[in-house]
Amino acid sequence: MNKKQVQERLKKLRTEIDYHRYLYHVLDRQEISDAALDSLKHELFKAEQEYPELITPDSPTQRVGGIPLDKFKKIKHQTRMLSLEDVFSEEEIKGWEGRLQRVLKKSVAFGYYCELKLDGLALNLKYKKGLFASGATRGDGETGEDVTNNVKTIETIPLFLRQPPEKELKKIGLSGTSIKKLLAAIKNGEIEARGEVIIFKSDFARLNQHNAKKGEQIFANPRNAAAGSVRQLDPKIAAERPLKFIVYDLVTDIGLETHEQAHEVLKLLGFKSLKYNKFCPDIKTVIGFHHHWQKRRSDPDFHFDGIVVSVNQLKWYKPLGVRGKTPRYMVAYKFPGEEATTMVEEIKVQVGRTGKLTPTAYLQPVPVGGVTVSRATLHNEDEIKRLGVKLGDTVIIRRAGDVIPEVVRVLKNLRTGKEKAFKMPSACPICGGKVARKRVSDKKQKESVAHYCVNKNCFAVLKRQLEHFVSKGAFNIEGLGPKIIEQLLNEGLVKNAADLFKLTEGDLVPLQRFAEKSAGNLVEAIADKKNISLARFLYALGIDHVGEETAITLTRNFQFSISNFKLNLRKLSDFFKEEKLRGIKDIGPVVAKSIEDWFGNKKNQKFLRDLFDAGVKIKKEKLVKSDKLKGLKIVPTGELKNFSRDEVKRKIRESGGDPQSSVSKNTDFVLAGDNPGSKFDKAKRLGVKIISEEEFLGMIS
Ligand code: IVH
Repeated sequence: MNKKQVQERLKKLRTEIDYHRYLYHVLDRQEISDAALDSLKHELFKAEQEYPELITPDSPTQRVGGIPLDKFKKIKHQTRMLSLEDVFSEEEIKGWEGRLQRVLKKSVAFGYYCELKLDGLALNLKYKKGLFASGATRGDGETGEDVTNNVKTIETIPLFLRQPPEKELKKIGLSGTSIKKLLAAIKNGEIEARGEVIIFKSDFARLNQHNAKKGEQIFANPRNAAAGSVRQLDPKIAAERPLKFIVYDLVTDIGLETHEQAHEVLKLLGFKSLKYNKFCPDIKTVIGFHHHWQKRRSDPDFHFDGIVVSVNQLKWYKPLGVRGKTPRYMVAYKFPGEEATTMVEEIKVQVGRTGKLTPTAYLQPVPVGGVTVSRATLHNEDEIKRLGVKLGDTVIIRRAGDVIPEVVRVLKNLRTGKEKAFKMPSACPICGGKVARKRVSDKKQKESVAHYCVNKNCFAVLKRQLEHFVSKGAFNIEGLGPKIIEQLLNEGLVKNAADLFKLTEGDLVPLQRFAEKSAGNLVEAIADKKNISLARFLYALGIDHVGEETAITLTRNFQFSISNFKLNLRKLSDFFKEEKLRGIKDIGPVVAKSIEDWFGNKKNQKFLRDLFDAGVKIKKEKLVKSDKLKGLKIVPTGELKNFSRDEVKRKIRESGGDPQSSVSKNTDFVLAGDNPGSKFDKAKRLGVKIISEEEFLGMIS
């Protein structure tokens, strides 16, 4: 996007975000999930970080929450109620810490206080001379709604503050001055505390059951129920609702040293603070805390959507300061949401084993549910029509549990007018074969029209090619066995070997047998093999008559100089001309013709281009890595423990030796494994030296 386009995008994003925030904060209603809205806000925030000159004063990143409703009296906050910046990954939380150091221009060893981020309604409570005086919502951050009478009915909000004995305050490490200030504020002054009103999950279920029986309002979720109960005019209704207040900040300055102390003080004053909160000495521990609670997200009886991380030492708050509406010293480290927004870059058709053509959205990669997703299924043509999705659209995608990511909604307000409609192809994108339409019904008995490739060979050939491509002597990709290859093809995730390099965790996790960890491992294992030797590369292509041996011969004979080793298509096709190949010892006419034909084929050329585009690079590899077996002619025979036949040959070659397949008097050694056979007998007869696998290992190590 050029700057003008970014500016346009930001404008549209702001309008869209404002609309959904209005629903959320003012009307306690939602059209899209929290996670999808977070995702839009995140895009806006990041773009504004990149182009600070494009920030407008009315951007949602600069303003807090909603507008106080007219039906309430207003309360002006003495200290602004801010909002939090979200981060979603280890990388981003580390980036946040890095920014703190940059702002301070020094490397400070911050300690952090971590809390669960509750999903409810923020409240500011004021106490005068120790007595509860008023309660206000956040509103626009400056002015909130006066909900004093409603929140007075919440039992976990003390109506008067406890006066802790000095001994207790000393025990939590408060200085003499802080103790004095605190006690004076309780007795004669003001104390302000902030926290979240929530409804516990079990209470929420009971509330909805009860309301259903009486034909009263059913709430979508505990947050809406909590916010709706506090933001209505009749205190009797609030009193009937199972509201709880959980405290998270002491606003009144009594000269404390740490945020952890603030929590201790609040508990002594009679507030409920979460027992799960914890001090973490460094970012690594913070990440551990986050992962711990992400796994146990459903354990507590309340919803939380991440953790709040605060710099623990309060002395840094002022120098770090506030940016827009968010303090720098605090951040929300969110759990991965099941939904996110991103852009459709392309719509391509995948062909599965049954021949079914599945239109698939290729997306700007985005984290969803903890993994990066770069494509989402569009199921079939009917679904594309139902969603109205076009190329270039911003969409909400969902990845729930281990289900294949899908597009659930198009955000049409974000369109630029340049989006393009998609049409199902009339020929199979793999084999060019005929496509037929069939009426099918899915698991949910929903009828739709699916497109099918009618050529049965379309799939089988591809499967064999892929198995060869990843085999030991070729790209040697561990963890990519025949079962998995079949799954990848079944799902249509892979159309040719080049697609392997485009797989992401998000593609793999939904497949059977794939936990997130093994998905990540496989993606890494594949990426690791992008740099490959020419010999392996040539062998992997699966050209008729080109085995490992021939591939090595070809490599040896082309004295590629590494300085211009950027192999491109033209260079390759120039090299592999029959008349040049015919000059090479060990390359016969059939092999030479086969190679030339392969490189001359348009489809193969496109395949090579795809491989290079996917990031495959041919590196110069020394065929001989040591001279431990220099000049020795060695015949392997029998079953070896550590090597397959191809592997041992490779080992011999790498050590400067010459692996041979038949024994003669010129043979230097026979390397004999278990159950050797006729080569062993012949060696004995000719008096050729026989060595064991152990001796061989000793020679090459
Ligand atoms: S600290 C700068 N601590 O999250 C204001 N907030 O996205 C941050 N929230 O308005 C206040 N749990 O409503 C804090 N343990 C926690 C929280 C928490 C939930 C809410 C709060 C705040 C919003 C910011």
